[in-house]
Amino acid sequence: MKIDFWLDRWNNDKIGFHQDRINPYLAYFYGDKGPAVEQRDKLKVFVPLCGKSKDLLWLAQNGYNVFGVECSDRAVKKFFEENVLNYRHVEKEGTGLYICDDDRFSKIEIFQGDFFALEDNALDGVTDIFDRASLVALPVDMRTDYVNKITSLQQSGMRTLLVTLNFDPAEMDGPPFSVTDEEVMNLYAENYKIDKLIAKDVIEIETGLKNRGLTALTESVFKLVKK
Ligand SMILES: C[S@@+](CC[C@H](N)C(=O)[O-])C[C@H]1O[C@@H](n2cnc3c(N)ncnc32)[C@H](O)[C@@H]1O
Repeated sequence: MKIDFWLDRWNNDKIGFHQDRINPYLAYFYGDKGPAVEQRDKLKVFVPLCGKSKDLLWLAQNGYNVFGVECSDRAVKKFFEENVLNYRHVEKEGTGLYICDDDRFSKIEIFQGDFFALEDNALDGVTDIFDRASLVALPVDMRTDYVNKITSLQQSGMRTLLVTLNFDPAEMDGPPFSVTDEEVMNLYAENYKIDKLIAKDVIEIETGLKNRGLTALTESVFKLVKK
């Protein structure tokens, strides 16, 4: 999926992947079950391919510093405007950094540009990564590059909460794409300690995907720790 594909989706409001609810796994593992509230201002969560996800705001409201990357300028502006947030914009050679430092919650920064163009030090200070609809947004031939890139940006000990979808690819063309547990192992095992936390049947919840032809759908959640 090239960037033009996604810009077209945003420009034509074809954003069925966007969810108005907070991701329940994020709220569970980074809410009451997560790091102590008083420790959260020392943590910074990276959200790759973030769209205008409400999870960014939830993280900031719950004490985490947030850094997102998103190629669509329209998506980034919609995030701030729909959530009635003031922001500063620092332009840099066709890309830009959007910064929201509202007194009411922790800092939100979104890099508007290509994830694959992130500089080597882009994740300095990042402690955690939340990957929902990012790995699974990419076709198989891009997933290795995505994992190689995100791995190259990480320090040892960095944690990732990864959400994947598993379904019969014959039933639906992506995105999202099916990513099996075996593929997760192939992509990450060399450089990460992997724990599978949850596998849930979500076919009755994901009505949009059911309407696209899926008859079975499992959502899985992994905790990855960079070795
Ligand atoms: C399936 S959406 C998921 C958005 C978000 N994670 C969520 O949960 O709503 C994938 C997003 O990644 C963005 N994207 C795709 N390729 C990208 C790239 N190479 N660099 C930055 N953003 C990209 C798209 O514009 C889109 O908003």
